[in-house]
Amino acid sequence: MKVTVVGAGAVGATCADDIVRRDIAEELVLVDIKEGFAEGKALDLTQTASLLGFNTRITGSTNDYSKTAGSSVCVITSGIPRKPGMTREELIGTNAKIVEEVAKNLLQHSPEAIIIVISNPMDTMTYLALKATGLPKNRVIGMGGILDSARFKTYLQKSLNCSQSDLQATVIGGHGDTTMIPLTRLATLNGTPVSNFLNEEQLKQIAADTMVGGATLTKLLGTSAWYAPGAAGAALVESIVRNQKKVFPCCVALDGEYGQKDICLGVPVVVGSNGWEKIIDFKLNEAEQAEFNKSAEAVRNMNAVLDTL
Ligand code: 2OP
Repeated sequence: MKVTVVGAGAVGATCADDIVRRDIAEELVLVDIKEGFAEGKALDLTQTASLLGFNTRITGSTNDYSKTAGSSVCVITSGIPRKPGMTREELIGTNAKIVEEVAKNLLQHSPEAIIIVISNPMDTMTYLALKATGLPKNRVIGMGGILDSARFKTYLQKSLNCSQSDLQATVIGGHGDTTMIPLTRLATLNGTPVSNFLNEEQLKQIAADTMVGGATLTKLLGTSAWYAPGAAGAALVESIVRNQKKVFPCCVALDGEYGQKDICLGVPVVVGSNGWEKIIDFKLNEAEQAEFNKSAEAVRNMNAVLDTL
């Protein structure tokens, strides 16, 4: 199995690092537009192989997509990250052109690849990648919900003083500060609703902290985060390459599911060797469905901006 990561910046390089550490792929190609940058990261990562005990062969390439030929999974992290005070949506003008070009270049050399989109604004970039490539919908996956759910679990863990691995907690909807929906009603600690341990006010605060999870980090770091986004991308790659059939909230094309059509939005899906294979119906209550519809409206407005670029 060969995996390509485009964009050797902090998110792309961390994602590549996590992929090779887990020995998920036989071969990993890192691509960047900056001369020598991906080659440098690839060489540095290769020098960790004997220390970390992995066998993945790593290649770096400055924009030469022929090196990516035959990839099964391609991760797009290209584009500019947000700065403190910026929303993900403000990146659309720059990132749309980049993501479209990268997706087309990748498919030229890996026509069977499954494409994972991490670039922001992620929901709109996923929609763009799907439309621009004409790929079957199961082969285009936006990574946002996995990251947002990991942040949700972090804030739950801080309040519950528990192990994160004992938590099941999902964020659906858009990957935006105001469009994501942490499903507090369905969050459990080993199957027990977290509402048994936390009051409504605490749960509201956890949901609010989760929604601005990325912005909090951008403020602290001066740029957007990379460890959790990279790890979330790698988890997605692993479920595809190893056909794990994990249920992850991912941004996928909806065709009536969750009451929405002609949009890519975060819902729980089964992820395996065919990409996203099935949407799981979490049976939202009325209030959650209303939130989901509101999120869809905001993302749809953002998608409409694509026609004006
Ligand atoms: C984040 O939320 C990169 O969008 C990503 O950190």
